[in-house]
Amino acid sequence: MKRTLKGLRKGKQMSEDLLLDKVKKGIPPRHVAIIMDGNGRWAAKRGLPRLAGHRAAMTSIREAVEVAPVLGVEYLTLYAFSAENWKRPKEEVSGLMRLFEEMLKKEISELDEKDVRLKTIGRLEMLPESTRKTFEDGIDKTADNNGLKLIIALNYGGRGEIIDAVNKILSSESSKEKIEENDISNNLYLADVPDPDLVIRTSGESRVSNFLLWQIAYSEFWVTDVLWPDFRKADFIESVADFQKRKRRFGGA
Ligand code: IPE
Ligand code: IPE
Ligand code: MG
Repeated sequence: MKRTLKGLRKGKQMSEDLLLDKVKKGIPPRHVAIIMDGNGRWAAKRGLPRLAGHRAAMTSIREAVEVAPVLGVEYLTLYAFSAENWKRPKEEVSGLMRLFEEMLKKEISELDEKDVRLKTIGRLEMLPESTRKTFEDGIDKTADNNGLKLIIALNYGGRGEIIDAVNKILSSESSKEKIEENDISNNLYLADVPDPDLVIRTSGESRVSNFLLWQIAYSEFWVTDVLWPDFRKADFIESVADFQKRKRRFGGA
C-alpha cells in the first residue's frame, strides 16, 4: 500500500510516487549505511520470540536493496551483527547466524540477477564456519557484478576496524614513523568505498553503537521511530528526501 509521506517543504504531504520522482531528480547519497535496529521490540510487541523479529527484518532488507539503486545509491551498508552482539543469549546468536545463512542461500541468485555485488566488513573469522563460507561464496559469485555494492557488516566494530587498520600498517611498513590520515583510510576493511553520505538508524535510538566510526566523520544522520521490520521503500525514499534538503558544509563557511 502506498503511503502519504512528509514532503520536501514544511511537512507538506505527498504521495510516495510523487516524492520518488522528486528524489530521483535530486543528487543522491552515493553511500547509505543503515543501523537496522528494533527487531526485538517488533517481536515483543506481537508476543513473539526475538528471532521472529530478525526473520521479519529480511523483508525490509529486500526492500532497501530494491529501492536503493532506483534512487541512485551506489553503496548500501547494512549493520547486521555488531562485535558487541555476542553478549546476547546464545540461542539468539546461533539463531541469527543460521538465519543469515538461510537467507543468503535463498536470495543470492536473485541478488546476482539484479547485478548486486556483495561485500562484507567485520571480523568474519569469528563466525561459525558455515556462515562465513556462505558469505564468502556469495562474495565470489557476485564479484563481477557492477550494480549496487551491498556491504554487510558482520561481527563489525568501528574501533576494531581502526585497530585492524593500524596493525596492518605496522606489519607492512614497520619502518614508518608517523601515520597520516590516508594511511588509516587506505587500510580500512574496504578502502575503495566512499564514506557514507547518509546514516539511517531505525527504532528511535540516537546512537552510533560502534558503527563505521572513522567513516561517519561528516555523514548526515536520519533517525526514525519505525522499527526495522516495518521499514519499507517509502521510509527509504523519505530519508533521502530529507538528506537532499541538508546543507553539507564539511567545516567550511
Ligand atoms: C537489531 O535489532 C538487530 C541486531 C542487532 C542483530 P535488535 O535485536 O537490536 O532489536 P531491539 O533493539 O532489541 O528491539
Ligand atoms: C546495533 O544495534 C547493532 C546492529 C544493528 C547490528 P544494537 O541493538 O546492538 O545496539 P545498542 O545495544 O542498542 O546500542
Ligand atoms: Mg537493538
